[in-house]
Order: sequence, then C-alpha cells, then structure tokens
Amino acid sequence: MTMSSPIAVFDSGIGGLTVVQALRQQMPEETIVYLGDTARVPYGTKSASTIQRYAIQAAEKLASYKPKLLIIACNTASAYGLEILKRRWSIPVLGVIEASARLALTHSHSIAVLATRATVTSDIYPQTLKAMNTAVSVHSMAAPLLVSLAEEGWWDNSITEDICRYYLADLPASVNTVILGCTHFPVFLPILERIRPDLKWIDSGTPLAKEVRKLLSNTTRSQAPTSHPTLRLLVTDESTKLHELASRFLGESAPPIELINI
Ligand code: DGL
Repeated sequence: MTMSSPIAVFDSGIGGLTVVQALRQQMPEETIVYLGDTARVPYGTKSASTIQRYAIQAAEKLASYKPKLLIIACNTASAYGLEILKRRWSIPVLGVIEASARLALTHSHSIAVLATRATVTSDIYPQTLKAMNTAVSVHSMAAPLLVSLAEEGWWDNSITEDICRYYLADLPASVNTVILGCTHFPVFLPILERIRPDLKWIDSGTPLAKEVRKLLSNTTRSQAPTSHPTLRLLVTDESTKLHELASRFLGESAPPIELINI
C-alpha cells in the first residue's frame, strides 16, 4: 500500500456512485476504484448470509487493486458485512451507517430511517443511534420500491412522488430528521424535500466523505496533489442504459464501464 494506492468503494449496484460523487467533491486528488455488483443487485431483498457472502467476494476482488481504504457504500452490505470485513482486512474499512447516524444526531433526537427491507430487519440504524445517544427515538421504514425506481431513472415524476408520499404517510409527527439509509435514495431529494420541506434529510455520502478525508489526513495516506486522479468503474453485469445512469448517479460523465467477474 502506497500513498498513491486507490480508495476502493463497493455497492450492490451503481447507486453507490452517489457516495463516490461526495468523495470526489471532498478529495478530488484521490484515485477511486468502484465496484458495482450489478449482476446481483438488489441486496436489500436478500438474506443475511447471502449479503455477507456477496460483500466478502466484492471486497476480495477489490483487494487485487491494493487499496489503502475500503468503503462499503451500500447500507445493506454495511449492515451485514462491515464487522466481518473489518476483521478480515488490515486496511481501514468504513461503512456508511455511523457517519449518517452521527450527523443525524446533531439535528435531532427523533429520527426516521428510510432503507431497504434487509437494512431495516438488521436493526443496525436504531442500534447505532442508540449506542451514540440513549435518548434517541428511531422510526424505521422499508422503502423497497424506491430502489427499482432509482435504477429505472424515474427520479422525479408523478408516480415516484406518489410512492414517496405513500412511504412517508406513516411518519410519526415527532420526527424531524430522516436518514436516507440507502445509496439510491439521495436521487429522490427534490421530491422528498417538496413533500416534506420541514424535515432535515440526511444523505450518507457527504458525512462519510468528510470522515474519510479526516482519516486520510490523520494517517497521511492521502494522495499527493500533483498526481492524476482517476476513477475506475467496475461492474459485474452490463445493460444498455448503465453508462447513462451511472453518469446521473455520479453527477458527471462516468468513465468507461469495465465488466468483471467475482
Ligand atoms: N445499495 C443498497 C443500499 O444502500 C440499495 C440497493 C439494494 O437493495 O441493493 O442499501
């Protein structure tokens, strides 16, 4: 591992490019290797053992790029795989859950979490939030349809808005902060803010990217400013709209897609 080693990021699909966008905003000098397990997305409908196996396989694939840091951009894989991967790897391994929880607690002690069914079942957000502050109350909501809508590119239309309204209908009146506990959900922020402009919406990308920047500057593992940063985009399956959609999630033109097996 050298200073010029990349940051490795993986997600169940390309939704994790929302996290890469935040990383590139915070650390434009860093090279990033991103792996989206597009052949097996969604993880959020799978069992704990399957999600753990997928997370281990993705991390093993990324190990060949000799990264200095591994980021699990997927909330579902963070929920089930973070502790396992931390034990297996000698480099730092970060998930997305703690950073979002920490930021949410700076706004409120009555917090809701919108996530996949597997993430809600894991109870990871309530456990993490309560470990940070015992006084917090947490309301978890599974919103599985939003993953498909994000992948279909239906980010802001009337059908998606109706589904968001449906999911938000049961939100307790006391809640004033909502964690978007899924990599895909930041794309719905325009709709969510339109429906509930009174709420604070927490997207995991930015708080995580700030923590990564701090970690790298503390451990002097950050990239030399004169280097030429690159982004590599590895996926386990291709489809016609993938590059276009990846660019939308990334907020800039995505690099060429590299198809790999894991
Ligand atoms: N990347 C997943 C997450 O953040 C959402 C998509 C999936 O179900 O795989 O939880």
